[in-house]
Amino acid sequence: MSQTKSPLLEGIMARRSGNARALGLPGPDDAQITAIVKAGAQAPDHGRLVPFRFLQVAQGARSRLADLLEASSRELWADIPQPEIERAREKADQGPEILALIGRIDPNHPKITASDQWLAVGAALENMLLAVQACGFAAAVRSGKFLETKAMRDGFALGPNEHLTCLIAIGTPSDWPPQKPKPELDRVFSVWNG
Ligand SMILES: Cc1cc2nc3c(=O)[nH]c(=O)nc-3n(C[C@H](O)[C@H](O)[C@H](O)COP(=O)(O)O)c2cc1C
Repeated sequence: MSQTKSPLLEGIMARRSGNARALGLPGPDDAQITAIVKAGAQAPDHGRLVPFRFLQVAQGARSRLADLLEASSRELWADIPQPEIERAREKADQGPEILALIGRIDPNHPKITASDQWLAVGAALENMLLAVQACGFAAAVRSGKFLETKAMRDGFALGPNEHLTCLIAIGTPSDWPPQKPKPELDRVFSVWNG
């Protein structure tokens, strides 16, 4: 009988996003953070360009991150109302650990397309999410235009080809969001007959 059961496959099928507001202590320890980041760096990477790097947001930098998130929101929304400022700032307070995933994309590489490089970044993200869950935690990914502003770029000292792709809040879930339905197989898979 062909093998369709393995801990890895079970982990993939069980992966789901956590609720960022329901991620508490404990968070991953140093060895687990290292394992999560190494899983990210294990991503398939055409041309071995290493189009990603990872940052751990230091606990002492949380208020600085909140200030940057506020500045970023103000940059995008001139007369932003106070509740939206609070919503922006609270992202710095979600989860006992926050990792940032930075894409390093060379749009002019002679051989490797930008999309291949982005795919490696995405593979790194999925590897990290699977590793988070394998270590017994939940993760919530945060992304959006607020990561692409001058405030964030300057605050994270990004190079010209670097993109702050997402923040990953990690912790112990006290609650889960509703399970998201996944596409039926026939919606995403068929045979190409030439
Ligand atoms: C690149 C990327 C960015 C994401 N950004 C957000 C986000 O900003 N806010 C959010 O609630 N979820 C975000 N997510 C998580 C998706 O919403 C989530 O994966 C999707 O709803 C499916 O749920 P599941 O992860 O439980 O399967 C992001 C996921 C990816 C891959």
